Amino acid sequence: MTRWLVFILVNYVALGLTASQETCSYWDVMNNLNITEANPRLTSVRPVTDWKEPSIIRIDVTLHAILDLDEKLQILTSLVRFRMSWKNQFLTWDPQSFCGISSISIPVDSVWQPDLSVAEMTEDPQSPTVPFLSLSSDGTINLRKPIRIMSTCNLDIYKFPFDTQKCNLTFGTYMHTVQDIIVVPKSNSSAVTQSSREIYAKSEWLLGKVDVLSNNISTEEKEWSQVIYQITIQRVPLLYVINLIVPAGFLVIVDVASMFIPMEGGERLGFKITVVLGFSVLLLILNDLLSNSEVTPILGVFCAVCLVIMIISIIDSIFISYMLHLSAVRPDVPQWLKIWVLKHLAFILRIDTAGATESNAVGVRNTDKATSVVRKEADMPNRMCFQKEHDSVEVKLLKKVLLELLMIRRHMIMSKREDEAKSEWHMVAFVLDRFILICYLLTVFIILITVVVVWAF
Ligand SMILES: *[C@@H]1O[C@H](CO)[C@@H](O)[C@H](O)[C@H]1NC(C)=O
Ligand SMILES: *[C@@H]1O[C@H](CO)[C@@H](O)[C@H](O)[C@H]1NC(C)=O
Repeated sequence: MTRWLVFILVNYVALGLTASQETCSYWDVMNNLNITEANPRLTSVRPVTDWKEPSIIRIDVTLHAILDLDEKLQILTSLVRFRMSWKNQFLTWDPQSFCGISSISIPVDSVWQPDLSVAEMTEDPQSPTVPFLSLSSDGTINLRKPIRIMSTCNLDIYKFPFDTQKCNLTFGTYMHTVQDIIVVPKSNSSAVTQSSREIYAKSEWLLGKVDVLSNNISTEEKEWSQVIYQITIQRVPLLYVINLIVPAGFLVIVDVASMFIPMEGGERLGFKITVVLGFSVLLLILNDLLSNSEVTPILGVFCAVCLVIMIISIIDSIFISYMLHLSAVRPDVPQWLKIWVLKHLAFILRIDTAGATESNAVGVRNTDKATSVVRKEADMPNRMCFQKEHDSVEVKLLKKVLLELLMIRRHMIMSKREDEAKSEWHMVAFVLDRFILICYLLTVFIILITVVVVWAF
């Protein structure tokens, strides 16, 4: 029992003794370092004892999120975790003399900081502020803060919406040359990519990789040190496929299908114009999305070509309804049109116009025969009249009926001829229509293959 008591007593005394010997706070360290009040010696000059010695700034960047990528203004808004460390040769202490305190937090504006900035920065958006730095006993200062960066980025939208973008974040100083400040990356490309993947927030953009490059650029005969973080991101195209590409494809299919609406009547024309209106709405959306850069996205080219052939097919429809109208007013098809369309074009397209021409020939032959008969028979009653003036009443009546019949027959032949001419116009219209349809399909096919090839590679 007494042994226990003695043990506790000795312990208590020992504890009390140490406490009275070494009680220290962060304030003691700061007091010792002279950073409790504004100290120009610490805030205004680069903290090296020998001016020829450059300060090495180690930086590390982890990409946290792509908040926005504005295709029109070509501006990338990203959120990164930024870490920077450098050595301050004036701020060192011995942890042993301060109860083992090896690092303290100090206010941001109490010490000198390198003037690091992002070269591509367009404006300074509100970033969360971190008011403290950490200072280690060997003088190493660590700064960690999240920053929102709005930077310019040259977008390559040729393959939109299947595009991959590369954007640079270049960290460097504006004032200090390489004799004063050398910026070096803390971790290499694969480490940065790995750590970024772990915290990256999902968005419209998938994170490909982050490349880290460091180099010295020289301008005005001086050298500046910089570190480039090249971010490669890939667009998730699903939204654009659903909202843009699929509707455009369907409209083109509908427009092709409308070529099979009968030529007669104005229905086809009205339908086609409605389709073109729908298509131009899609074009407006596309125009809204993309910027006016030197390369046009292949999707835009596709839409433009589709619009052009849609309009050509509208003109074709107008032309064909005009031809059908002509067939009613001017039954004869001009000879050159007959030769070019019914003979050559129909031959190339392998459309069988032989039926039409043959029936034409038969018709013409029949008409010729009929007219000759009419002529002969028209003469006949006259002869009869001369020969037999004393015909009975019945015979006279019969002759009159015959004449009437002949008149009707002639009329019928005439109208048949007209019909045949009409069907010739129809044939011309049909051949031209098929020609446009084939051109249409060919163009759509070629441009479609081109677009798919461009997207795939
Ligand atoms: C990004 O940096 C790399 C490396 O210096 C350079 O080759 C590339 O042209 C830069 N890209 C842009 C868009 O400035
Ligand atoms: C930049 O120049 C400094 C000083 O001349 C040199 O130490 C450093 O290695 C250079 N950095 C690169 C990436 O060339």
